[in-house]
Amino acid sequence: MKIAVDGPAGAGKSTVARLVAERLGLRYLDTGAMYRALTLEALRRGVDTSDENALMEVATSIDLNIVFQGDKGNVIYLGGEDVTGLIRQPDVTAHVSEVSSHRKVREFIVALQDQIGRQGSVVMDGRDIGTVVMPDADWKIFLQATVEERARRRQAELLRRGVSVDIEEIQEQIRARDYLDSTRDNSPLRKAKDAVEIDTTSLTIEEVVDKVLGLIRGEEQDVQHSGGNY
Ligand code: CDP
Repeated sequence: MKIAVDGPAGAGKSTVARLVAERLGLRYLDTGAMYRALTLEALRRGVDTSDENALMEVATSIDLNIVFQGDKGNVIYLGGEDVTGLIRQPDVTAHVSEVSSHRKVREFIVALQDQIGRQGSVVMDGRDIGTVVMPDADWKIFLQATVEERARRRQAELLRRGVSVDIEEIQEQIRARDYLDSTRDNSPLRKAKDAVEIDTTSLTIEEVVDKVLGLIRGEEQDVQHSGGNY
């Protein structure tokens, strides 16, 4: 079974996708972590994130390893170093959308994701999973929430990791990333035609997970899955 979970920053994708994978006994892949790991390495090497060819040199020379660790989600190693926490730092977040906007970078990373998808059942979360990476997914979920709520969640997540950022600043960053992600030429953030949209603004994570599982098990009445591949 292949499940695609897409949506903008802070809509709850990674937590929901990880929990759905766990409940169904499937692997979970956080595709954003791959763009983030590349961004971290580019920043460490002092590479200009607008330079596509320089980024490709980084992409083709890094030793990126993703370990699937059940309830911990994905643990990301760069050249043997665990960078799972580091790739969520604000400077990586501030540059990742520019890094991921380059066509060659996307083709390279999508090919890796495609390989993982071919290895068997998986839940993947990202921006282009239902449209580009797994257009043949059995289920496509598109999570949405208001910018205010997404910023609030991101602020809480950062605080849990000891990083305090002003809510207005987070809202600005989210708006900027939404804009870059949905207007880029190469596989922009877009809801697949056959995706089911869930507005998570006033739902808890558990409620969203239940909705997704209900949908997959055919119990959910208030959302329609059109089925088929477009
Ligand atoms: O968790 P959050 O929503 O902040 O972002 P993420 O899923 O870690 O993704 C970080 C960035 O990577 C996004 O803002 C996109 O620019 C890019 N991305 C992408 O282009 N395609 C994907 N499939 C996943 C992430």
